[in-house]
Amino acid sequence: MTSRPISDQDLEILTGTAHPMLATEIAEHLGLALGPMTISRFPDSETYVRVETSVRGKDVYVIQPTCPPVNENLMELMVILDALRRASTGRITAVIPYFGYARQDKKITGREPISARMVADMLTTGGADRVLTIDLHSLQIQGFFDIPVDQLTAVGLLTEHMRKWDLSDSVIVAPDAGRVNMATDYAGRLGLPVVIVHKRRTGPERTQAAFVVGDVKGKRPIIIDDMITTGGTIGRSVTALMEQGAQPDVRIVATHPVLVGSYAENLRTSSITEILVTNTIPVPAEKQFGKVRPVSVARMLADAISCIHRESSVSALFA
Ligand code: R5P
Repeated sequence: MTSRPISDQDLEILTGTAHPMLATEIAEHLGLALGPMTISRFPDSETYVRVETSVRGKDVYVIQPTCPPVNENLMELMVILDALRRASTGRITAVIPYFGYARQDKKITGREPISARMVADMLTTGGADRVLTIDLHSLQIQGFFDIPVDQLTAVGLLTEHMRKWDLSDSVIVAPDAGRVNMATDYAGRLGLPVVIVHKRRTGPERTQAAFVVGDVKGKRPIIIDDMITTGGTIGRSVTALMEQGAQPDVRIVATHPVLVGSYAENLRTSSITEILVTNTIPVPAEKQFGKVRPVSVARMLADAISCIHRESSVSALFA
């Protein structure tokens, strides 16, 4: 589907400071300019926002992934929503390409929060009428909202790029049980077998790949995931795959390149030859170290915005 220029009479694309480059790209696909905004910090670090154009009655889309610094970006989004709500905006869509706090979607032990639900409540109370997002960590997060959530997936986009690779002797690897459905989706599209690395989590930042389920001897693994955070899951999966005789030619495919903490240490290993991600989160050149290749989700988001604005089916985008 191709985005067509839309009249900016009643449509406004705004951005927070989390990812203005993606927002600009989305607006360009729609043939629009970003709406003018002032975003600054008070001396004590509180956020100040002013929408510098009238949004009364308009259909407004705010682009803001809640990537690191997560709390800063989330709070900034909340302040923007509040400004829009008080300015009599017709409809507000929070476009959150990467939804932070998503991994805290259940209690594992007593006296823990369900932060993903709390963020959903904050967004709804704050004024969002709709959320547009990509590859949520778990699908049930959609149910945490009482407003419509349009969840896109980057699997089709990433698969298009994977088709340009030499896929001989390749296997799709799910790095934990939670990614089996996603791995099956990739494998089905590419006609490849699926292998699972059984992972046991030992703490919020520490994970442990235990054993490989499936045959990887002499194979070239393609590990898929929804996000790479510290790269610990990937690093441990690569080690487990090498121990089982896989070729030291491992490619990684993940939607969200969070890339924090010891990610470089975990991903620089020579066994990893390419890391394909999207730009739901900015990936500055220094984080790419010649291996990380971001694919843009701008057109996909622009097409979805176009569908939502025109009240046509978003799911038709995937047909
Ligand atoms: C876990 O359930 C997720 O799907 C990712 O595998 C995980 O969040 C990646 O984190 P890290 O890169 O820190 O291992």
